[in-house]
Amino acid sequence: MCGIVGYIGNNAVTEELLNGLKNLEYRGYDSAGIALNDNQKIVVFKASGKLTNLNAVLSEKKAQSCSSTVGIGHIRWATHGKPSIENAHPHLSNDGNLVLVHNGIIENYKELRQQLTNKGVVFHSQTDTEAAVHLFAEEYKKCGSLEQAVRKALSQIKGAFAFVIMHHAEPDKIIAVRKNAPLIIGCGNNENYVASDIPALLGKVKHIIHLDDDEMAVIKKDNVTVKDVLGNIIQKKIEKISLQPDVISKNGYAHFMLKEICEQPAILRNVLQKHIQNNEIFLDDAKIVVHWEKVRKVVIVACGTSLHAAMVAKKVWEEWLKIPVIIEVASEFIYQNNLIDENSLVIGVSQSGETADTITALKQAKICKAQIMVLTNRIDSSIVRYADSVVPLNAGVEISVAATKSYMAQLAAFYWIGLFMTQKINKISCLAFSEKLQTLREIPEKIEEILSHRQYIESLAQKLKTYAAVVFMARGFNLPTAYEAALKLKEISYINANAYPAGELKHGPIALLDEQMPVIALFEEGETKPKLLSNCEEAKARYAPVIGIGGKRCSDVFDAYIETPDTDACFSPLLLCVPIQLLAYYTAKALHREIDQPRNLAKSVTVE
Ligand code: AGP
Repeated sequence: MCGIVGYIGNNAVTEELLNGLKNLEYRGYDSAGIALNDNQKIVVFKASGKLTNLNAVLSEKKAQSCSSTVGIGHIRWATHGKPSIENAHPHLSNDGNLVLVHNGIIENYKELRQQLTNKGVVFHSQTDTEAAVHLFAEEYKKCGSLEQAVRKALSQIKGAFAFVIMHHAEPDKIIAVRKNAPLIIGCGNNENYVASDIPALLGKVKHIIHLDDDEMAVIKKDNVTVKDVLGNIIQKKIEKISLQPDVISKNGYAHFMLKEICEQPAILRNVLQKHIQNNEIFLDDAKIVVHWEKVRKVVIVACGTSLHAAMVAKKVWEEWLKIPVIIEVASEFIYQNNLIDENSLVIGVSQSGETADTITALKQAKICKAQIMVLTNRIDSSIVRYADSVVPLNAGVEISVAATKSYMAQLAAFYWIGLFMTQKINKISCLAFSEKLQTLREIPEKIEEILSHRQYIESLAQKLKTYAAVVFMARGFNLPTAYEAALKLKEISYINANAYPAGELKHGPIALLDEQMPVIALFEEGETKPKLLSNCEEAKARYAPVIGIGGKRCSDVFDAYIETPDTDACFSPLLLCVPIQLLAYYTAKALHREIDQPRNLAKSVTVE
């Protein structure tokens, strides 16, 4: 996923573009660049690596002194071609007259590249994007109109794209087009913006227009015209930005990740209050139109952290609803016969709502006539378009690349939807229902208790940071928590963390154990505890350091133990995700990692 910004107005455009890119850094940070339409010529500045490197280039070249008031910018997460200046956007046509930035994937770029090379076009990068800029430029030479050239060229491009384009001969406009990649127009006073996501517009405008697939926006400083593929003008709804500028502030925390971890009690309280009142479940802003009587199985497709939330849902829903819940890795879904039909409910879980793997899986499920539900934190995202039912996570914008509060919100959604479904199909007594609601209501305070003792977890991290690899294990409802713990630790500290069902350790992974391989076991109340304790003894017998997390310390086998308040085993993933998030955070902090922007990652992976 990349970040795109554009500005046309009366202000010095360089500052406007840099401000926007700063607020989109979570989308990718392999390279960055801007292009200015300056006195009838296009000027491009680029740098590989983080945005600070571009700032240095701009200062060195005194770009801030440029008087231009129209320009575009880009921050990249590399797909085709390594992070480098040559591959950084914006990309320029050979004649230097046309420039663009792109988010997405051009699937037929190789054929286009060959076709253009045969016409004498010279390529300077390994990107798919560069094929587009030269294609637009070739069409411009024929018709002399940027709008027409873009429209003509788009018919030759296959794939997902958000393009923002400028031509030096038409300095009064920026053109924005999209297909399966987000673009939002910010409507100002005698100035207008375009961006991949709302954080780039916060504090700049109060009103926005969401561009939809196959629409083109012609953005001038005093008006915005949106047209369809045939050039017919479309009347678009102008919406008020609901996000507040402080969402892009750390509010005193060292990192967005810690801020977002600490927001979890409030987010959980808000979700529970919206959907659970007086022993009843309310849909509130969720749209759930499932024909439950037709549902014979549930299939959940997701990636990464969202996949782990889905795994928790499987364990909880199968216990509560007594119907099969199948979990599928979204990127594998399209290669297998999923036995999906009109009696299947397929649920896509995606914080960003832009994850290409998950969207592709849902597209295929739709073809198989399944009922589609999505759980997402971005109800303005692409995934919503494929759903019959949409459940907003209401976690607020999540800036840190590592998902934390959105995971909490996904779990909360699965719990309240599960309770909603048990009521719908009469699978639960009033007493049992009330007890579950009361247990849920007590969770936010218990999370606050865990957060209040985070200094102990920080002290453990000082030791954990010295290890090159770590094993997490669990049984029961928290096996997904163990997978999430391993993902969190590896993605922000770069320690090689892996997770296994505790019972599986003796079938191979135990060969890894020695004094340099700590084992972290996640405990929940109930039948899994004795056997998990035995697995800890087995690890100890191989000289592995053993750490326990969950409930009261229950043995002296542990070298360290993170106690958490007790709760019902089936709700304990809501609690145990917090210490593992904190452990990952403090370990990465102790290793001086780029916590909010880990290397090689992006907040949403919009390519397959
Ligand atoms: C989570 O910390 C990771 N950043 C990543 O695994 C993420 O959960 C995954 O890419 C799915 O993203 P989504 O929820 O936006 O679809």
